[in-house]
Amino acid sequence: MSTSAPVCLITGAASGIGAACASVFHAAGYAVVLADVQHEKGRALAAELGAGAQYMALDVRAEADFERVLGEISQQHGRLDCLVNNAAIVGTLGPIADIPLEEYEYSQSIILRSVFLGMKHAARLMGPQGSGAIVNIASVAGLLAGYGPHLYNACKAAVVNLTKSVALELIEQGIRVNAVCPGNVETPIHTGVTDERWQRRMEKIRIERADDQPQGRMAQPTEIAEAVLWLASERASYVTGHAMVVDGGLLAGMSWRHQPPYLREFHPAKR
Ligand SMILES: NC(=O)c1ccc[n+]([C@@H]2O[C@H](COP(=O)([O-])OP(=O)(O)OC[C@H]3O[C@@H](n4cnc5c(N)ncnc54)[C@H](O)[C@@H]3O)[C@@H](O)[C@H]2O)c1
Repeated sequence: MSTSAPVCLITGAASGIGAACASVFHAAGYAVVLADVQHEKGRALAAELGAGAQYMALDVRAEADFERVLGEISQQHGRLDCLVNNAAIVGTLGPIADIPLEEYEYSQSIILRSVFLGMKHAARLMGPQGSGAIVNIASVAGLLAGYGPHLYNACKAAVVNLTKSVALELIEQGIRVNAVCPGNVETPIHTGVTDERWQRRMEKIRIERADDQPQGRMAQPTEIAEAVLWLASERASYVTGHAMVVDGGLLAGMSWRHQPPYLREFHPAKR
């Protein structure tokens, strides 16, 4: 299937933010390649989107999978215009003293090494064509500790700095590299399950977290996907090496409603 539409590969596209990116990019006229380890869900979403959408199995831990998928994209489309490195897990939880080394390796292989592998193989395709955009999904947890477990926080911080480092290199080949740092988004990642039970579990989490959010609610995945689409588009042609925070004000500071009354009540300035 050769196409003149811009081509976008999205990892972790069977669920949550990745699935929203697939829908939003597809609606914007991209040929989208959805990649994931949840094959049934990924295939179903690609089928639902219809022409211009396809599913490819890809485990982001495996370099061979990136080689195979990018090889297929090159063969079928002859180009790659955008890569969204989105797949991740929360990873290992708990105190630093309890975390076995293999848990460290496992978490970082999905949260950080995956982004390295994706950028490495995308750059090999985008470099010769002299254009492209990479968007890495980081997190507010990569900017401020305390929003996730240790290894997640560390890996997401590394994703932010790897984004900036690679952006400085690849801009010389016409490739822009940016990150998006979402706040709290309603997806299965918060629920510990990937099947239909996640919606029920989310009802409780939605209520628990609402008051901590300056907007009084968590984000919908599409609200993150829109930022990803903008960064990938020509409208962001002078934006690279940027970590865009999309968090409903979470990192800006304490919610207005939680600030002490003396700050919220009107008093004229003393002159
Ligand atoms: N939901 C949030 O509140 C939030 C906040 C900040 C950042 N993020 C980030 O957004 C991204 C998407 O997360 P989400 O919230 O949509 O979660 P999600 O669980 O809904 O989606 C993650 C997807 O990644 C896939 N995946 C997991 N391991 C994989 C592997 N080895 N290979 C390929 N695919 C794999 C899963 O199958 C799933 O489809 C992640 O990078 C996450 O860290 C999420």
